[in-house]
Amino acid sequence: MADEPIVLGIETSCDETGVGIVRGHTLLADTIASSMDEHARFGGVVPEVASRAHLDAMAPTVDSALAKAGLKFSDIDAIAVTAGPGLAGALLVGVAAAKAYSVGLGVPLYGVNHLAAHVAVDQLEHGPLPEPCMALLVSGGHSSLLLVPDVTREVISLGSTVDDAAGEAFDKVARVLGLPFPGGPHIDRAAREGRGDAIPFPRGKVDDGTLDFSFSGLKTAVARYVEKQGDSVSVSDVAASFQEAVVDVLTRKALQACRAHGVGDLLIGGGVAANSRLRALAQERCDAAGVRLRVPRPGLCTDNGAMVAALGSNLVAAGATPSLLDIPADSSMPITTVSV
Ligand code: KG4
Ligand code: ZN
Repeated sequence: MADEPIVLGIETSCDETGVGIVRGHTLLADTIASSMDEHARFGGVVPEVASRAHLDAMAPTVDSALAKAGLKFSDIDAIAVTAGPGLAGALLVGVAAAKAYSVGLGVPLYGVNHLAAHVAVDQLEHGPLPEPCMALLVSGGHSSLLLVPDVTREVISLGSTVDDAAGEAFDKVARVLGLPFPGGPHIDRAAREGRGDAIPFPRGKVDDGTLDFSFSGLKTAVARYVEKQGDSVSVSDVAASFQEAVVDVLTRKALQACRAHGVGDLLIGGGVAANSRLRALAQERCDAAGVRLRVPRPGLCTDNGAMVAALGSNLVAAGATPSLLDIPADSSMPITTVSV
């Protein structure tokens, strides 16, 4: 609707400088500058490098999002920004920029939680969120099962990883297999040529009665297997069997959570939600359980500014109190804090 507020969202929690613009829940622009190429040779994101890259990319990315949306600064009604969790220095760049835009434009500021934004983004593709819904968030930094009664106010953590995040496990296993960083998409691709049942890798915590995850035992099992096989190892079979172990546990626990809480809608977000086998198995198991599945398109699953704008838009619509100008960047913001 033309009279809905226009929200500009800024995301700088990791290596992506993301700027998204939404009107209500219509996506107008989603622009991303990534410093991933600068980190690849280190096999992981280097915080100081990421912070400096955000500083360089911030203003040009905002300008380019405005140009893409065909808007001027004066059209923006509110600014939303990821205030945490994430890399402290990286968050700081986004939060400082958001404050400056908020003051300069005379519009309210909303500091939001990165994880809640991963949930909110799905509305840009699939419309309003069912309340409550279950969310499985799987990325390089987090693996969480969240019960979401209201994304603007209440997000409850039901379980999370006790060691590596799912994406981190993908990245580490890719390294063992000699695949480039970030490894998730490479494992996904290699797995298409392999058999998921070729090697019976362990499923951490699968039947322990909790909704927590553990992937470090699996990672070690893969490393041992690859070492033992030496040159005769089949990269595609290892990739497929590792991937199967991860997505088996993720989907099982997600559906256990839906059953335990009587929730009929499951949302999957975060970078690992781009995984083709996760999407297929989740669909299969949701269909069997009578649960509706929502997974945003891959570009909205990985970190981006649109997700922050989407949550900001929810907050504006809910009449939430804007953030004060002294909000900190909180690298360990708990998921129970949706906005600050
Ligand atoms: O959400 P995201 O962009 O950034 C974080 O907040 O971490 O997620 C990045 C993670 C990386 O670990 C990457 O390997 C993983 O998502 N990933 C995938 C796929 N695409 C990205 N993992 C498995 N399969 C994929 N297709
Ligand atoms: Zn993320």
